[in-house]
Amino acid sequence: MTQNDMQEQVLAALRGVLHPHTGDDLLSAGYVRDVEIRPDGEVRFAFTLQPQDPGSLVKQARSAVQAVDGVERVKVNVQLPQAGTQAPASAPARPRPTPSPKPSGGGGGLQPGSVPAPTPKPGILAETDHVVAVSSGKGGVGKSMVASNLAAALADQGLRVGLLDADIYGPNIPRMFGESRRPRVTGGKGTEMIEPLEAHGVRLMSLGFLLEEEQPAIMRGPLIAGILRQFLEQVDWGPLDVMVVDMPPGTGDAQLSLVQTIDVDGAVMVSTPQAVALGDVRRGVKMFERVNTRVLGIVENMAGEVFGSGGGEALAEEMGLDFLGRIPLDPAVRQAGDAGKPTVLAAPDSPAGQALAKVAEAVFKALHTAKAAGASG
Ligand SMILES: Nc1ncnc2c1ncn2[C@@H]1O[C@H](COP(=O)(O)OP(=O)(O)O)[C@@H](O)[C@H]1O
Ligand SMILES: [Mg+2]
Repeated sequence: MTQNDMQEQVLAALRGVLHPHTGDDLLSAGYVRDVEIRPDGEVRFAFTLQPQDPGSLVKQARSAVQAVDGVERVKVNVQLPQAGTQAPASAPARPRPTPSPKPSGGGGGLQPGSVPAPTPKPGILAETDHVVAVSSGKGGVGKSMVASNLAAALADQGLRVGLLDADIYGPNIPRMFGESRRPRVTGGKGTEMIEPLEAHGVRLMSLGFLLEEEQPAIMRGPLIAGILRQFLEQVDWGPLDVMVVDMPPGTGDAQLSLVQTIDVDGAVMVSTPQAVALGDVRRGVKMFERVNTRVLGIVENMAGEVFGSGGGEALAEEMGLDFLGRIPLDPAVRQAGDAGKPTVLAAPDSPAGQALAKVAEAVFKALHTAKAAGASG
């Protein structure tokens, strides 16, 4: 088949996908733009997803194109609508927006022009090679546990690692690292910087270090964005190989402001086997796709007889994501937590300790593939 034939068929496939609410096909309604067919059978296109659109539209478009003869791979660049524009439902296809230049010194998280303003500021975490966000659909699934162990395991390998506790509502990192000191502030008026604390070889920052005990952290979107920004800009992280960010649960402001402030290389989604069924992992993945941040893969935590296992792996397969590992429900985790030491250090030979070390390895590998391959798809 010639490339022209293929192009015809790909376009026809996209015309065959209809919006469930408006009945318009994706191509005529302007959802899909910049269709590119490569000689090696890779098809790329941009997809503008409006906030009210079901995320499944992207998946439908992807499968429709994948089914065309000769198509080897499909890469979808999911974009947010430009601020102030309307849903494309009846509008003609818009011309390609002028790509904004990629900030220098940043990593591979965001593609030029794919996420509307604000773009990550150059200079923030300029001395950091990789940023990984550890996220989850809901709380209590072991996100902070995975983030802590990821950071500790990488530091144990000799890397320079930072761990930013972005879970403003429930900062767990201080407890998990057995830290309760107050960070020092250096510099003069107007140039103050907060020194991160260092524990178990990891540089740490958490709102938990700054709040009085018992002081509730009741905050709304703008404040969260502000605090996150300060943690990124006004903490003297120094040169880091990897920055791990423990995200708050869900798909809210913190996630958005993070990817808008810095170049996130990728997100690790943590789920328990039973939480997979609730759909919030899926929503979490969609949210990162919408802001064009690569999802490095899924970690299944608390697998075992009580909760079963395998859900995370099945979901990864279904969504075309890497499965980064399964961590069993293990009393060693809680004991390590009580001792203020990540499991990979406190109980490296326990089942969870070993599984967590493997997860860290898988994440590190995925990060390097992400960087090498750029931020496509
Ligand atoms: N694999 C596991 N085995 C045993 N306990 C675990 C495991 N993973 C997490 N926990 C415990 O579950 C609780 C919730 O974990 P946490 O990391 O704080 O969740 P999240 O950050 O998602 O809210 C903690 O007390 C933690 O020690
Ligand atoms: Mg937590």
